Amino acid sequence: MEAIPPVPSRILIVDDDDSVRDVISVLLTEEGYHCVVASSADMALDLAAQDETPLVISDMKMPGKDGLWLLEAFRDRFPDTSVIMLTGYGDTEAAVDCLRRGAVDYLLKPPKLTDLIRSIERALAKRRIELARKRYQKKLERKVRDRTTELRSALKNIATTYHHTLLALVTALDAREHETSDHSQRVVQYTTAIAQRLSIRGTELDEIGRGALLHDIGKIGVPDAVLLKPGKLTPEEWVEMRKHPDIGYQMISQIEFLSIPAEIVLSHQERFDGTGYPRRLAANNIHIGARIFAVADTLDAMTSDRPYRKGTTFANAIAEIDRCGGTQFDREVVKAFLDIGEQGLMKIKADMVARKAELAAANRKLLEDAAKPPSAPPILPS
Ligand SMILES: [Fe+2]
Repeated sequence: MEAIPPVPSRILIVDDDDSVRDVISVLLTEEGYHCVVASSADMALDLAAQDETPLVISDMKMPGKDGLWLLEAFRDRFPDTSVIMLTGYGDTEAAVDCLRRGAVDYLLKPPKLTDLIRSIERALAKRRIELARKRYQKKLERKVRDRTTELRSALKNIATTYHHTLLALVTALDAREHETSDHSQRVVQYTTAIAQRLSIRGTELDEIGRGALLHDIGKIGVPDAVLLKPGKLTPEEWVEMRKHPDIGYQMISQIEFLSIPAEIVLSHQERFDGTGYPRRLAANNIHIGARIFAVADTLDAMTSDRPYRKGTTFANAIAEIDRCGGTQFDREVVKAFLDIGEQGLMKIKADMVARKAELAAANRKLLEDAAKPPSAPPILPS
């Protein structure tokens, strides 16, 4: 098969002097280059805009916009075009200035053909390498971008899986107590809303949410006879019950992404005035997540129905929590909680009920579809 000859490089020659311009053009054409000529800087830019121009050979001194101006314009608009400057004798300083501003070379006028060709070939070779480097860099950048996107999506999947695993764990725990997992999830919502009012964002917010979700995880280690006892607990049984923050902490503190939630689990029964358990911590020694959780948990406990009593109104619960600000609860946290307001808090609960109903309907539909008999195969004509 015959090899396709390479396309000659397009060289733009710019000079206001017709004779110089034409001589260079004829000589270079004879050498196999594809030459276009321009008599001014503006004309040169117009020609460059029409087709890819790897190389410009420009006179420095031209009436109006000179070679230096043209050099700057090319750097700006066609940064991949190489520029060789032609300078008059004694213009060395200006020529050096051109190199500083990005010209690849300069030649004295009139240039010798051999010098000119050497300079052109050097400039074209340098440009090829530079373009290859840019292409390679772009390819690398694209690869890094793609990999980053893949990694982000993998991390998101892991985070979602973690979250669902934790939810399953909490649901199992709530089922043991014959409660629904709504309590844990409502507490997460209230806790998150209060934390946001306290300008907590990002990872810290997620960790506090997880701490709230897992707060009673340690109850898994409390014997059924104590946990499920319908009546009042004896002092000995209370000792068993009060171990649950410690048990929870032991369970999850070794898991790296749960180390902060573990702190909240350990502190969730502490009280701001130091009368809680297990460590009788007070004030800011209690993790902020646990101080927020205490308010959220009390709200949910007071406003939820129990087998032995009906839940109270949000207004009553809010008033009670407000009254205990500074003693049982952190006053700053209570302030943020009050900021959400009765309507805001009730909406959080209502939204969860609505979401749960939607989910139940979707699950019902899935089950119904799965139970449908398969449709009869079509009867083929005999
Ligand atoms: Fe607890």
